[in-house]
Amino acid sequence: MRVLIVGGGGREHTLAWKIRQSPLVDVLFAAPGNPGIAREATCVPIGVDAHSDLVTFARRERVDLAVVGPEAPLVAGLADRFAEGGVTVFGPSARAAAIEGSKVFAKDLMRRHSIPTAQFSTFDDPDRARRYCRELGAPLVVKADGLAAGKGAIVCRSLEEADAAIAECMERKAFGASGARVVVEEFMRGEEVSFFALANGHDAIALAAAQDHKTIFDGDRGPNTGGMGAFSPVGVFHEALEKRVMEAIVRPTLTALADQGAPYRGVLYVGLMLTSQGPKVVEFNCRFGDPECQVLLTRAPGDLIPWLLAAARGAAWPPATAWPHNASVCVSVASGGYPGAYVTGLPIRGVDAAEARAGVHVFHSGTAEREGQLVTAGGRVLGVTAVAESLEKAIAAAYAAVGDISFDGMHSRTDIGRRRMAPSVGRGTAPEGRRP
Ligand code: AMP
Ligand code: GLY
Repeated sequence: MRVLIVGGGGREHTLAWKIRQSPLVDVLFAAPGNPGIAREATCVPIGVDAHSDLVTFARRERVDLAVVGPEAPLVAGLADRFAEGGVTVFGPSARAAAIEGSKVFAKDLMRRHSIPTAQFSTFDDPDRARRYCRELGAPLVVKADGLAAGKGAIVCRSLEEADAAIAECMERKAFGASGARVVVEEFMRGEEVSFFALANGHDAIALAAAQDHKTIFDGDRGPNTGGMGAFSPVGVFHEALEKRVMEAIVRPTLTALADQGAPYRGVLYVGLMLTSQGPKVVEFNCRFGDPECQVLLTRAPGDLIPWLLAAARGAAWPPATAWPHNASVCVSVASGGYPGAYVTGLPIRGVDAAEARAGVHVFHSGTAEREGQLVTAGGRVLGVTAVAESLEKAIAAAYAAVGDISFDGMHSRTDIGRRRMAPSVGRGTAPEGRRP
C-alpha cells in the first residue's frame, strides 16, 4: 500500500512512526513532514493548505490512503477534495469537521440531542453577550466560534475579564472572522480528559483516553499552550466511564451528524470534563490531539492501518486486540519564551542519546535541519515519549531522556504525568486560562 500523511508536527511524526510499522505499507509519504518524519517517510514540500497540489500528488503517486493530521485543512475541506479526486482519506469531510470548526455548530448539535455539555448561549452582538455574562455570573468561558489556533477559549474569573474577552473577540477582532460569533458558557469544574474514538460514518469504536497538561508551568500555572505533555492511560477514566461516554456522547453525536448528511469518518477527539454530575463535553476536535497522539499510538496494540482503512471506507472494524497494561508519557520540550515570542534556529543536542534509551521515542514537533544540524523551528520542539509497564516508570524514563537533550533556552514542565497524584475534582483551572 501507498500512504500519504498530511502534516508536519509531533502528531504526524507519531502517525508516521506507527504506520511505518505496518506490513501492509510499502511506501510512505509525508507532506510537508519534518526532519523526524523524514526518517520514516519520504517528505514532499507541499503545505497542508495547498489542497489541489496534495490531491494531484496523491493521484500521481497512486496513494491508496491519505491520512490528514491537523484540523485546519479538514475544516477547509481537504478530505472532500481527496474524495472527489478518488483518493481514500482518513479524516472527516468539512461538514463533519464543523464539530471542531464551529463551536456554535457543536454546541447547537449537543443541545438538540441532549448531549451533556456546559450551559451556554451564542451571540453575534457584543452587548447581548455581555448581558448574558451577568445572567450566568463568573467564572465563565468566552469562546470564539471558529478555529483560533487553540487560543479561542478564554476562561474569565470576573465579569470584567468577560467584558474584555468579548471586546477582544468581537470588537478588536483578535481572531479575525473566527470571533465574529461567540459562545458564552458556564465554567465547569473537574478533571479534564481527552478521549478518542474512531468512527466509520455509522459506527464508533473506543481507542483510549489521555490527559494533556495545557499550561506552560508546573502545577497548571501560566498561560495555555498547545500542550506541554500528556499521559495515558488515565486512572480516573475507568471502563464504566468509557462506556458511558460512548453511549451518552460519542454515539449520539455521530448519529446526529449522519442524520444531517455529514457522516463522520476519522478520529473523534472528545474533550471531557469529569464533573460531579458526570462527564460533560468541553469541546470536540476532528483529529488526534498533540501530544495525546504520541502517548496513544506508542501504547496502541497491533497494526493501525486496517483501522484507519475501515474508518475511511465506512467498512466493518477489524477484530479488536486488547490494549496492553502499559503506560506512556510524553514531555514537550519547548523553546524559551513559548507560548510568547521565541527565537528559532538553535542547535539541538542529545536526541540520539535520548532515543537509545529503552522505550523512548523522540517525536519532532518544531525542528528543521540546517547544514546537517538539527535546529529548533517552533514553540514546541520535541515530544519526548516513553512507554513502560507503569506510569511511574514511564515518567522516569521520559525525564531521563529529556535530561539527555539540550538547546539554549530549552523549557519543559517537570510534573507531567503526576496530576493523578494531586487532588482531582475541583482543581479549579480558572485563574490563568487562554488569552488571545
Ligand atoms: P477549548 O479550546 O474549548 O478546548 O478550551 C480550552 C481549554 O479551556 C480547555 O481545555 C479547558 O481547560 C478550558 N475550558 C474550556 N471550556 C471550559 C468550560 N466550560 N469550563 C471549564 N474550562 C473550560
Ligand atoms: N493537546 C490539545 C490538542 O491537541 O488540541
